[in-house]
Amino acid sequence: MGNLFRKSSSENRIFRDESALLPDYLPEELPGREREVRELVYCLSPAAENRQPEHALLVGPPGTGKTSASRFVLKQLTEYSQRPLTIYVNCWETPSRFAILSFLVAALGEVMPRRGVASDELFSRFVEIAKKDGKTPIVVLDEVDRLEAHEDGVQILYDLCRAGEMHSLKAGVIAITNDEEFHIRLDSRVRSSFVQHTLLFAPYSVPQLKEILSRRAAVGFMPGSLDPDVIPLCAAIAHKQGGDARVALQLLLSAGKAAERENAEKVLPQHVRKTEEQALGMAAVKAERKLPDLDELDQRIVEMVKKSGTGGIESGKLYDALAKFSRERAIRGRIDRLVQSGILSTASARLGQGRTRTIRIK
Ligand SMILES: Nc1ncnc2c1ncn2[C@@H]1O[C@H](COP(=O)(O)OP(=O)(O)OP(=O)(O)O)[C@@H](O)[C@H]1O
Ligand SMILES: [Mg+2]
Repeated sequence: MGNLFRKSSSENRIFRDESALLPDYLPEELPGREREVRELVYCLSPAAENRQPEHALLVGPPGTGKTSASRFVLKQLTEYSQRPLTIYVNCWETPSRFAILSFLVAALGEVMPRRGVASDELFSRFVEIAKKDGKTPIVVLDEVDRLEAHEDGVQILYDLCRAGEMHSLKAGVIAITNDEEFHIRLDSRVRSSFVQHTLLFAPYSVPQLKEILSRRAAVGFMPGSLDPDVIPLCAAIAHKQGGDARVALQLLLSAGKAAERENAEKVLPQHVRKTEEQALGMAAVKAERKLPDLDELDQRIVEMVKKSGTGGIESGKLYDALAKFSRERAIRGRIDRLVQSGILSTASARLGQGRTRTIRIK
C-alpha cells in the first residue's frame, strides 16, 4: 500500500492555487470597485506630497469590498511613496482609544510602557514622532462602529481628524463601517471631516459577482476545471444573499473542495448546491443550539427568518408577520440583539426612497 497522504495525480486537477480563493487574499484587481478605488486614490494622493490627505468614510453591507479596496489602495500608495505610513486597525480587535494609540505609536517604532501612560500622552507622542520622521500617517479604522462600545473610543476619530489643525500633523483617516447611520451619531465636527468623501459600497450585481469570481478562478483553479454553469450559479446565490462577494467566493471554494473530495474531473453545479445545503444546515444547527437562551419573541423571529431560506427576509415583511405579537420597535431591538449574539446577520439596501434590511440566519 502506498502512502496515504500521496495524492493520486488525478486529484490535483481542480485547484491551481487555492489561496487565491481565500478571504484574505488581496487580488491584483477589484472589478466593480473602480470608482471607489479612484476616489480613495484622490483622497490619499496628497499624502505622497506632504500635503493634507482627505478623510474618507466607507459604508456598505458585508462582502462589498470595503476592506479590500482600502488594502488595495494602501498597498499602491506605499509602493509609490515612502512618505505615507499606512496603518491598518481593526476596531474589533483594538476597540479603545488607548489601545489604538498604543498601536499607532508602536507602528512608528516606539515602545511605550503599557501602564502609567495616559491616552493624551500617547497621542502627543504619536504626533511628535510622526512629525519628526516626516511621515504622513494614513490610518484605516475598519469596523469603526465598534469604537462606540468603548467610553472614549470614538474620540480617536476626533484626535486624528483634528491633528492637522491642532498639531499641524498631516494625517489621513479611512473609516469603514456596515452601519449606515454611524456618521449621524458622530460629533458634528468629526462628521464634517467625512461628508465630502462618504463612499457607499453597494451590494454587487450578478454580472459583477461573475466577473469577480472569474478573475479569482483564473488564478485559483486549473484551466477547464470549472463547469461553465458553476460561476453563474455561485454569483446568483451570492446576489440573493445581499450581493456579498465573500459568500460567492466561499461557495466556489467549497464546491471545488467537494469536487476534489469526490475525485471529480470538474466542479459541477451539483457541488455548489451541495455546499449551499450544507451551509444552510449548519446555520440551522447553530441557531437551534442557541435557541434555549431565547424567549418566545426571539424564537418567533428566528423561526420566521429560518423559513425564508438563504435569501433571508426583508425587515418590513418580518415586522408585518409578527405585528400581532409585538411592535416594530421592539422587534427591531430584538433583531439587533440576535445579530450581536451571532445568530442573525443583516444587510441593508436601498428601496425606493427608503432603506430596507435583509435578515438572515448567520
Ligand atoms: N471587487 C472585488 N474583486 C475581487 N474580490 C473581491 C472584490 N470585492 C470583494 N472581494 C472579496 O470578497 C471578500 C470580502 O471582501 P471585503 O472583506 O473587502 O468586504 P467588506 O466590505 O470589507 O466586508 P465586511 O463589511 O464584512 O468587512 C474578500 O475575500 C475579497 O477578496
Ligand atoms: Mg471588511
